[in-house]
Amino acid sequence: MNKKPNIAIVGATGLVGSTFLKVLEERNFPFENIYMMASARSAGKTLTFKGIDYVVEELNEHSFDKPIDIALFSAGGSTSEKFAPIAAAHGTIVIDNSSAWRMDPTVPLVVPEVNPEDIKWNKGIIANPNCSTIQAMLPLKALHDAYKIKRIVYSTYQAVSGSGLKGINDLKNGLAGSNETTAYAHPIAGNCLPHIDVFLDNGYTKEEMKMINETKKILGDDSLKITATTVRVPVFDCHSESINIEFEKPFDLEEAKQLMDNFPGLHVIDDPANAVYPLARDIAGKDEVYVGRIRRDESVENGMNIWVVADNIRKGAATNAVQIAELLLK
Ligand code: A2P
Repeated sequence: MNKKPNIAIVGATGLVGSTFLKVLEERNFPFENIYMMASARSAGKTLTFKGIDYVVEELNEHSFDKPIDIALFSAGGSTSEKFAPIAAAHGTIVIDNSSAWRMDPTVPLVVPEVNPEDIKWNKGIIANPNCSTIQAMLPLKALHDAYKIKRIVYSTYQAVSGSGLKGINDLKNGLAGSNETTAYAHPIAGNCLPHIDVFLDNGYTKEEMKMINETKKILGDDSLKITATTVRVPVFDCHSESINIEFEKPFDLEEAKQLMDNFPGLHVIDDPANAVYPLARDIAGKDEVYVGRIRRDESVENGMNIWVVADNIRKGAATNAVQIAELLLK
């Protein structure tokens, strides 16, 4: 793209949508015009971006009649299913944060530090992976390239902000003593819920299957053996993940730490003797992924355990999408 792009934010009034705006502003993303879109409920409201007020438009079939180069979508799966193809047919490149298009074989699923080359084969829609998948991809790519992963066991500890404002309010109200819930099947305060998204016929949740299938697509390796248990915990921001990995090749632990620390967008914080490891409260608001507790799994031949933390609304959603948009400009 030679000129500054016209951009649209679809779902601009939501939690991820407002973080798109924050991240675009912080990174000084170049643009000619910017359009804020949401549902009819928000039409006419104003949103401030870079000190200028913009009126929110209702998203409809004609929203992309005007020239828009890049649209960042975070307005739910059914909105993306309907409107991303309409936008793409008008020549807009959609970066979609929902799960609607992620596993479509004609749609690249991209983490910019991991598989930036995949954006080249987009046909108008590029999918942003699930938040819990995105953060895992950085250390796993660094290690897979060196030691070839055989099997992954994911166990996640996921923040309530992943459920939007309803999740945040459930935790706030729960901490104030209420047992009423709007986002979850059970109270989240003082609880761990092994239930994220809906249950499927195989007994897994949809969130767990997203992690399994998206990992194979992003790493480009269908032979990977992967299992997952995803858990919602009473934490406001940042997903934490315990990842157990088995490799085909032997590895040197210090070398593995170096590979991860040298990987773009990934930092090692690992000094257990001084109680130093990545913590959700420290990493909230950051754009990078943090890894610690790096140690051998002594129960198998080439096994490793790692602990990975990232801000699920930033790197897990908005920052990753904006990084994809930056790649499109190159
Ligand atoms: P609105 O604020 O008008 O409801 P969150 O994930 O925080 O719940 O935000 C969802 C975002 O998606 C909001 O900006 C919301 O707009 C938007 N949205 C939801 N449904 C639609 C729809 N049918 N068309 C356009 N935007 C929608």
